[in-house]
This record gives sequence, structure tokens and C-alpha cells, in this order.
Amino acid sequence: MYKITLIPGDGIGPEVSKAMRKVVEATGVNIEWDIVEAGEGVMEEFSTPLPQHVIDTIKKNKIAIKGPITTPVGKGFRSVNVTLRQELDLYANLRPVKSFKGIKSRYEDIDLVIVRENTEDLYAGIEHKLGNYGAESIKIITREASEKIAEFAFKYAVDNKRKKVTAIHKANIMKLSDGLFLDVYRNVASKYDVDYDDMIVDAASMNLVMTPEKFDVMVMPNLYGDILSDLCAGLVGGLGIVPGANIGKEYAVFEAVHGSAPQIAGKNMANPTALIQSAVMMLRYLGEYDKAAKIEDSLSKVFLDGKVLTADLGGNATTEEFTNEICRVMENK
Ligand code: NAI
Repeated sequence: MYKITLIPGDGIGPEVSKAMRKVVEATGVNIEWDIVEAGEGVMEEFSTPLPQHVIDTIKKNKIAIKGPITTPVGKGFRSVNVTLRQELDLYANLRPVKSFKGIKSRYEDIDLVIVRENTEDLYAGIEHKLGNYGAESIKIITREASEKIAEFAFKYAVDNKRKKVTAIHKANIMKLSDGLFLDVYRNVASKYDVDYDDMIVDAASMNLVMTPEKFDVMVMPNLYGDILSDLCAGLVGGLGIVPGANIGKEYAVFEAVHGSAPQIAGKNMANPTALIQSAVMMLRYLGEYDKAAKIEDSLSKVFLDGKVLTADLGGNATTEEFTNEICRVMENK
């Protein structure tokens, strides 16, 4: 039996978490969920959006899966997600972006992987005001973190038989910080028998829209990874689809790329695929390959059939109807 921390999150988090649990449990895998809350809802009780017991349970169980958590814009507390990634040294954010047949999109057969550095860059949270004149946010790029993320990307490429790694940067302008990232990347690349190149982030944005099939594994500092993840989600049908994993040496926290989508929260219309696919990544991480494949096959069949789809994919099924359909297909296999 596995014991796994589950943070349902807020906004659409509780709905997609419930759907994910139902689908995962339908595979027959034996999981005991250690359910804990974080975010604005616990601020009053614990005076922090990320109480110590939440971090402790992840440290104890080693593995967590979480729904999205709202972060106030321009004021209020620091992002729970960023803090969690730093506290647990979840240095690699792995986001596979793959087309499903049956989902309407301008592109077909997209199959690329974003590897985002997860602990530093402008997300280090070092900001200060310059009186009334302005404000300053400091971008941190270290040799150690750059080396860890480049190693992760190349090891992932080898283990998963991927053909090429591309580093994304802006070293033409940020010659020292992104320059260091690129230098370290090239050093690491020279040790592996995998094709590699690099591209500045603006050119990469255009190329991703025009010729996404040219990309395979992409590795980049935190901010570019955040932005390009959403861009790439748009290539395969939107944020409802793309999963993710925050991985460190000791712990792993699985979560979708999307946020809490407050506009559709509580309406039973969110697409739970992204979190369900994050659970597929989690099952593989646990070595439960058959159960992961079972979910993936069922999702593929539901999309190919195209009759039961949520609103973001042009359908009119509720979150619950879509979830039940995945479970029905799984049972009938
Ligand atoms: P968002 O990802 O929540 O929403 C962007 C758009 O995608 C909206 O139109 C939304 O309705 C749609 N969308 C997202 N997920 C969907 C799903 N599963 N099914 C159907 N449609 C979906 O991004 P936004 O609006 O910028 O952020 C909202 C909040 O979420 C913010 O407070 C942000 O800080 C937080 N956030 C949290 C993350 C996390 O917990 N890992 C990640 C990203 C954002």
C-alpha cells in the first residue's frame, strides 16, 4: 500500500482532485491518501498558507499530488507553489506536452517535454522597493542549479529515448546569468550522446507556434519555463490537458500546469485530464506501469470517441460525466 499526500487546493482544485482520485482508485491501486489543505483557506487558522504540517506530511510520505492553489496578484502572501518547490528542493519541473487524437487543435502529433528549473531565477522571491521611484526583482542563476537541471534533462532524454535537447535562454541580453546557464548546459551536454542545441526565448516562442514538431526535450530557467508551458499547452488543446511533476532527490509533488481557474470553479465544468495525467506520471514514478497505461488508454479512447468532452474541448459534459466515462471505459477493457 502507498501512502500519498493529497493537497486538493482551491478554485477548481477540489473538483479535479476528486476526479483524479476516482480514476486512480478505479485502476485498483492501493493508495491511502493523506489529505491536507494549503492556501488562503488555512490562513486564519495557521497564519500561513503553507502550514508546517503540510511540509512534514510530504517529507514523511515522500510523494504528493496537489490541485492548484490561488496566489494573490501584486500583494498578499508568497506563492505556496514556489515555497513548496524551494522547501523540498523540487528542482526539476517536468511537463510532457503530447497531443491526443480526437482533441481539436491546430496541431497534430505534438510530443515535446518541458524541463523547467524550479527553485531560482526571478522566482527566488528577492524583491525590494526603490523608495517611490521603482522596485527591483533579483534574478538568481547558480552553477549548481543549472548543472542539476541540465543533468536532469539529458538523463531524461537518454532514459526516454528522446532525440534532442534544446536549452532556452536569453544569454544575448543577460550575458552573466543566462550566460552561466548556457555555459553549464553546454558542459553537461558534452558528456551525453544526445543531439543538443539552444535558442533564445523569443525565437523559441515563434518557432513553437510555427514548427513545434522541431522540438523534443526543452530545458530552461524558471520564468521561461512558466511562460512556455502555457504556450505549449495551447498547442495540444489547452491547460485542461497538460500534466506536471516537481521532482527532487528525495521528494516528488505531482500537479497540473494549470492554475485554480476561479471563473469556472464550483461549476462542475473543469477538465480533470491534466491532474489525471499528473497521476499517471505519479504511478509511473511508483513503478505502477500497468495501472498508468490503463488510465492513459482509457483517456485516449474517450478523446478518440469524442462524445463525452468537457466545455474547454468543445463538449458539454460535466467534470463528473467525463470522469465517469473514463472509469466506464476502463472497466469495459
Ligand atoms: P489558470 O490556469 O487558472 O486559468 C487560465 C485559463 O485556463 C482560464 O481561462 C481557465 O478557465 C482555463 N483553465 C485552466 N485549467 C482548466 C481546466 N482544468 N479545465 C478547463 N479550463 C481550464 O490561470 P490564471 O487564471 O492565470 O490563474 C488563476 C490562479 O491560479 C492564480 O491565483 C494563479 O496564481 C494560480 N496558479 C496556481 C498554480 C498552481 O497551483 N500550480 C499554477 C498556475 C496558476
